[in-house]
Amino acid sequence: MCGILGYAGGREATDLLLEGLRRLEYRGYDSAGLCLLDGPGIAVRKCAGRIDSLAQLVGASPVHGSTGISHTRWATHGEPTDANAHPHLDRSGKLALVHNGVVENYLEIRARLASKGHAFLSQTDSEVLAHLIGEHYDRLPPSPDRLLAAVRDALPEVTGTYGIAIVHADHTGEIVGARRGSPLVLGIGENEFLLSSDVTALVAHTRDVVYLNDHDLVWIADGSYQLTSLTRAQIDREVRKVEWDSEAAQRGDFAHFMLKEIFEQPASLENVMRGRLDWENCSARLGGLNMTPRELRQIDRIMIVACGTALHAGMVGEYLIEELAHLPVEVDFASEARYRNSPLDSRTLVFVVSQSGETADTLAAMREVQRKGLRALGICNVVGSTIARESDGGVYMHAGPEIGVAATKSFTSQVAVFALLGLLLGRLRHLTAPAGRDILEALQALPSQVSEILKYNDAIRAVAEKYAASSDMLFLGRQANYPIGLEGALKLKEISYIHADACPSAEIKHGVIALISPDFPAVIICPRDGVYEKNLSNLQEIKARKGRVIAVAHPDDKTVASMADDILPVPETHPIAQPILNVIPLQLFAYHIAVALGRDVDKPRNLAKSVTVE
Ligand code: AGP
Repeated sequence: MCGILGYAGGREATDLLLEGLRRLEYRGYDSAGLCLLDGPGIAVRKCAGRIDSLAQLVGASPVHGSTGISHTRWATHGEPTDANAHPHLDRSGKLALVHNGVVENYLEIRARLASKGHAFLSQTDSEVLAHLIGEHYDRLPPSPDRLLAAVRDALPEVTGTYGIAIVHADHTGEIVGARRGSPLVLGIGENEFLLSSDVTALVAHTRDVVYLNDHDLVWIADGSYQLTSLTRAQIDREVRKVEWDSEAAQRGDFAHFMLKEIFEQPASLENVMRGRLDWENCSARLGGLNMTPRELRQIDRIMIVACGTALHAGMVGEYLIEELAHLPVEVDFASEARYRNSPLDSRTLVFVVSQSGETADTLAAMREVQRKGLRALGICNVVGSTIARESDGGVYMHAGPEIGVAATKSFTSQVAVFALLGLLLGRLRHLTAPAGRDILEALQALPSQVSEILKYNDAIRAVAEKYAASSDMLFLGRQANYPIGLEGALKLKEISYIHADACPSAEIKHGVIALISPDFPAVIICPRDGVYEKNLSNLQEIKARKGRVIAVAHPDDKTVASMADDILPVPETHPIAQPILNVIPLQLFAYHIAVALGRDVDKPRNLAKSVTVE
């Protein structure tokens, strides 16, 4: 939520910042801005709209300098306007700040500063933070670390979350950064430093990074950097290598990142399973859990917390783990779990699932269970993300960067992790070796089966275009395919803005069927599994009410073909792996509808990739 990029080094920074902001734009895209230390002054350019608008502004009114900060915004306080865009200046006009997060007590600070004569130009909480730091700066005597000291003095007055970068006209070559609750990463280049909310903006320049923790301050000055805590303690933190390069975050020949990421799923599924299929024991190897077989056997309940797509993956996981390991599993919205007084004991194992590893509610839910002494394990994609670092162990998805706001490859990787987890827990209990082997074989075949589905892309586009004019759609499935329906509906909603809902197939009779009409099509996920006949009955119930039906089914399934209006084809596999295949045509279906409607697929309205505010 919001992207930050700062640069201090020997290069002219304007184009570098603009280019970096384009890579961060998926984090927020309603307004943008930058500022450069330009000779003795500070030059700010900012406007509502996308990075292209900012680039035009900079083109018309160029700025120069080799120290600067920049920002792409997802509005929290105040509409996306030129004035509300970052950077914000303090009262002196010499200090500039970009901010990601929410200052909860900003009204109180604002009133206090206003009584001292501060005038504010925006409605944002971030401008208040700039003024507060400026106020402290003005009080301090001149010293080389005056900007750092001002930030350190100001932050204890702030309630809320922040990832910030600050520059000052009298401190060329310097950037101060700080974080609490919003990510910040330092990039270490050759005679230059970058500071960003996300490694995506750094990898074009360096793969050597230092992840800041909450309450860390970083001071870039005089061609080096220093990490300290708010209490002035020196911090020695490891420099880590980013696994992927800038190529991985490029769109290539694909029209959209989302399409590229859908097509990457054969590879991302290979990656999530690499080294984890334990053929010898007909089980799975998940060493990152940091748990012995004995400890895993002692677990008698699992809780999964997540948001959005990751929550849907957890819901599929619930079915898979219960089926394979006969362990009770509860899945909850992280935003609910964090405030709930759920009975938890030491035999409950908690999984937090997050592609970004930065989602505010998921992180807070994790910290809450850890506070109560429970072990919380992360299932994350972004290496070095806050959840990955603070969890007590976990599983990396290794899906590579996911840029499209609509999660796709991360979802299938998360479900694959749950299948592996179910297999491991099952084999430590009563799942037989042959049953375990069947699952391994099914998982191993997934990448090539996904490739098979991707060959139907044109056929799926044709079906999608037929239904693109619908204003509503219903998604139905049973068992683990019910959350696949939820995920199909979410994909459609977020990128096409078509209203969509999902429910377990049989539930329609309890109310939802009242909506069915020729204008309200239903997508039913209908694999030839244990509940196949039941799904067929539900399909008939919709047809009997003149509803149009699109079925996710095997291309040779003549029974479904004779009943449904259209088919989204999927190959067949073991029921444990089938949900992973079933979601692929739904991702493509949503994608092609959004394209047919001319939507901004990778940056849908009102959304941002990573939700780092509550
Ligand atoms: C789904 O397409 C969305 N991008 C959203 O629901 C997302 O899955 C959710 O915000 C959770 O994000 P996370 O996996 O990074 O925690």
